[in-house]
Amino acid sequence: MNQSRSEHIEYLLKKAGFKACLEGEEPDIVVFNTCAVREHAKNRAVSIIGQFASQKRKDGFPIILVCGCMSQIYQKELLHHVPNIDVLLGTHNLEEVPLLIQKRLEKQKDTQPQLAFWSKPEGQFLETGYSRKPGVSAFLPITYGCNNFCSYCVVPYATGPQRSKPMELILEELQKILEEGFKEVTLLGQNVNSYGEDLGLKWGFEKLLENIEKLVEERPSRVWIRFITSHPKDMRESIVDLVKESKVLCPYFHLPIQAGSNKILELMNRGYTKERYLEIASYIRDTIPDASIGTDIIVGFPEETEADFQQTLEVVEKVQFEIAYTFAYSPRPKTRASSMVDSVPPQEKKRRLLELNQLVRRVYQKRVEKLRGKTVALLIDKQEKTFSGRTPSNLRVFIESSVKNSLKPGDMLLVKITDIRDGKIFAEKA
Ligand code: 5AD
Ligand code: SF4
Repeated sequence: MNQSRSEHIEYLLKKAGFKACLEGEEPDIVVFNTCAVREHAKNRAVSIIGQFASQKRKDGFPIILVCGCMSQIYQKELLHHVPNIDVLLGTHNLEEVPLLIQKRLEKQKDTQPQLAFWSKPEGQFLETGYSRKPGVSAFLPITYGCNNFCSYCVVPYATGPQRSKPMELILEELQKILEEGFKEVTLLGQNVNSYGEDLGLKWGFEKLLENIEKLVEERPSRVWIRFITSHPKDMRESIVDLVKESKVLCPYFHLPIQAGSNKILELMNRGYTKERYLEIASYIRDTIPDASIGTDIIVGFPEETEADFQQTLEVVEKVQFEIAYTFAYSPRPKTRASSMVDSVPPQEKKRRLLELNQLVRRVYQKRVEKLRGKTVALLIDKQEKTFSGRTPSNLRVFIESSVKNSLKPGDMLLVKITDIRDGKIFAEKA
């Protein structure tokens, strides 16, 4: 989401006449688009911004602009820790970036930073225009904000309630992305399944997917469409059915479970039980056997006992996730969980994380082992030591070196899985 918003900021700045710096050039303006979802992200951002701010030249340049979730949440703290910030703005004021920089340039001698915050986000999500670097994959945000208030999560406080982008704007942007030659488009939202609810649409996400499918199918070359993130409480069988019938929607479902114990899910305010999660996961497995299921998991949430944690491990074993992002719980400001006792000691969180990660790796290896000898579609998107790409189900596959010379990023081809070594999948042209 932040990467995409940075592309929007770049678009706004270019439209206002600013130019991106080339590598090695000294910048006049540095823009930080920050994340506050976990304590770790916040700490890293403070340290990096501080580094840049302390290297300001005598003439006051580069101008330091900080925006995004961290500035929305930690406005005062940031100004206190990094006094050299010139422009600080919240998550609802992005459109003002060029204007605020202009103001700052006019008042260069002024030591007061330019601030822009709205306490209440208003209206729809009308963000348009992104300066995308040419490549294989593009992002397309369809909603901004979140209504769910999971008790550990700062996102609703930092980004405001869910606002869906009107369907015409999404389709227009998609048209542009296709014209720019991208081969894969990822629709973005904190909870894509609830797309359109704030616009009064029922099953808006299905309607959007159907319209996207029509638009993409008219194109002569193949394009893949993905979407993240699906919230288990709003995930529906009808979405899985649409993906099954589709030639363009990729069978990858990012469905964060967060915890395997109903007690913890309730404390997290997730709105589903382990049983419902397992039901929808089985539906995906039965309907689309080649699909992948990805997830996010938090260990060490307040009151998580060893028995609760064991239930998380059991669910990982049952669902056989292909992809899992795992985190140790950290309290976030304003959230309900931050007033609960952070009862799991740091060492214990670390131990649970380690045990979980070991299981995630074992499960992945077992799951991908079944691919040996199979033929799968691949979209080449990386060229490092060797070419690699992702399957529709979002698994990374490396091309054995013998065929690499005839490939380029953006190629779509069929490959045969030849080997699985150290958790990496290898293939050759089918
Ligand atoms: N502590 C740890 N992990 C968190 N996440 C969100 N908030 C927290 C927190 N307070 C994780 C969730 C979410 C992912 C983006 O970050 O797993 O899905
Ligand atoms: Fe945070 Fe929950 Fe919203 Fe995801 S759904 S952004 S975890 S509040």
